[in-house]
Amino acid sequence: MTLDIDLTTQDALKKTVAQAAVDYTLGKINIDSIVGIGTGSTANFFIDLLASHKNKFRGAVASSEASERILKHHGIEVYDLNSANEVAIYIDGADETNQYLELMKGGGGALTREKITAAVAQEFLCIADESKWVEHLGNFPLPIEVIPMARSHVAREVVKLGGDPVYRQGIITDNGNVILDIHHLHPIASACAMEEKINHITGVVTNGIFAIRPADILLLGTKDGVKTLYPAKR
Ligand code: A5P
Repeated sequence: MTLDIDLTTQDALKKTVAQAAVDYTLGKINIDSIVGIGTGSTANFFIDLLASHKNKFRGAVASSEASERILKHHGIEVYDLNSANEVAIYIDGADETNQYLELMKGGGGALTREKITAAVAQEFLCIADESKWVEHLGNFPLPIEVIPMARSHVAREVVKLGGDPVYRQGIITDNGNVILDIHHLHPIASACAMEEKINHITGVVTNGIFAIRPADILLLGTKDGVKTLYPAKR
């Protein structure tokens, strides 16, 4: 079987974009700042590169227990979000992004804490390699975090919206819930409308569409270099 993505190149693009994100972040923070840190392989590259600057900011809030462990391993102070007065900037990857910087997230299952941290942050910086750039969201199955007892109910409701829910076996989120991955929603014509509809199903904790609060800026790693993109005007 051949992969249609060259993982070596993809990782190189992720590292390049992570370095650009460190440079951008250093221009936005000071010794008192708390930085929001996302989850996933691109965020991990970012953490590794940020670590050598750990004396230039106060600490971080993490969007997952996995990221918290890596931050602590680097000696970066990790704060509970409730004790952070302000999060200067939140840096995270994405599974898909469109030109409005509406995102599909949650491939790693950390979508709820990611969405909360993004909501609190003054600025949301998305970092991604060019494989994540799409015209319409939805080719990547939409992750939904669900209260366990509501799993079948939510699945039935999602089918009414035209989706095909698949239970992510063996995964319990950091919040003790389960994940349904919704296939066959592509193309999602209005990401905000779909985000709202799914949020309104009883038993849904969060869904992986980040459109009501999109990213403010995207650093996109391409073979021609890192592109800095802002949300397109409608
Ligand atoms: C984690 O739950 C996700 O939202 C990640 O941000 C997303 O899956 C991107 O991951 P990679 O950086 O590993 O591609």
